[in-house]
Amino acid sequence: MRFGRKIYESVEGYTPGEQPREPGIIKLNTNENPYPPSPRVIEALQALTADRARRYPDPLASALCRACAGVYNLPGEDWLVAGNGMDELLALALRAFVDPGDTVLALYPTYTLYEVLCQIHDCRLQYIELNDEWLPPESFYKEKGRLCFLTRPNAPTGVAMPRADVERFCAQFPGIVVIDEAYVDFCDDHCMDFPQRFDNVIVMRTFSKSYSLAGMRIGIAAAQPPLIREFMKIKDSYNMNAWSQAAALAAVEDQAYMRSCAAKVRATRERLREALIGLGFRVPPAQTNFLLARWEGSPSASAIFEKLRREHRILVRYFNYRRLDTALRITIGTDEECDALVDALSAILR
Ligand SMILES: Cc1ncc(COP(=O)(O)O)c(C=O)c1O
Repeated sequence: MRFGRKIYESVEGYTPGEQPREPGIIKLNTNENPYPPSPRVIEALQALTADRARRYPDPLASALCRACAGVYNLPGEDWLVAGNGMDELLALALRAFVDPGDTVLALYPTYTLYEVLCQIHDCRLQYIELNDEWLPPESFYKEKGRLCFLTRPNAPTGVAMPRADVERFCAQFPGIVVIDEAYVDFCDDHCMDFPQRFDNVIVMRTFSKSYSLAGMRIGIAAAQPPLIREFMKIKDSYNMNAWSQAAALAAVEDQAYMRSCAAKVRATRERLREALIGLGFRVPPAQTNFLLARWEGSPSASAIFEKLRREHRILVRYFNYRRLDTALRITIGTDEECDALVDALSAILR
């Protein structure tokens, strides 16, 4: 590319999961929530007037940040910054805290976007391999770097490293620790109290999973005010449109609805895990709204993925990456969707 920048020559970009156009597909490939958003979200969106479209939105998303401070038990809205999806906040964290050439740490395997963001930012991503139980090795707790992306629970493994180990890591790491809690509402515990105890910790959440708002693009980051001010310096003034702010506020104010959907997903997850293990898959205990099902037999995992898609119209995620190419990542759908998946897998493996 004649006009492109040299540092982007080898950048391939992130490959998002497929969003099929044809109807009638059971979609278990991008970790969306199978249940609709809270009815209060729809009411809040319908209440917006044309005037809200005419005017610029609140650049600080203050009402949303105040509500989140209450729900997360943080001292005030100046501990939070909202973003156009967590993905925007992840990119901003690199821009705010990492110089080109610096070392950024992540565990492997994890969310592949970090690697793309580091390439774009021209910094060095150092992976530390997870062990066979998908947990960090002891050497991880002595690592140094400018920033570490720590995904808990991790994706695509589904495993949550013990909270005490996150604490141990944050206490010794000299740089910024971004704890990516995209899936935390499906987990037994969380680290939202860490920003008050560590001046180097940023906890990030998304509304795409537990709040069923992937289409609205809403993420939030919590950290001590000096770190939040760094985000404010560099973010677009109007990164959160008025509709997303209204939807997010209504969603976060309806904790009971979110919790009830998350509980249903967790119950289905345990049922599906049992069924998959019964079919011969190896499935680590997951704390997420998806399962990583490992399959070393025949037909191969990639062949199973293809058959599910072509013959059963069920879409799951297959990663042709090291250590993941013998596995399927399966989003937890409704009970009916997961039953259909189990039936299809039984037919394929028979
Ligand atoms: C680990 C992890 N972090 C962040 C995100 C991005 O969330 P958002 O939709 O808010 O950009 C995802 C989405 O799949 C994810 O899996």
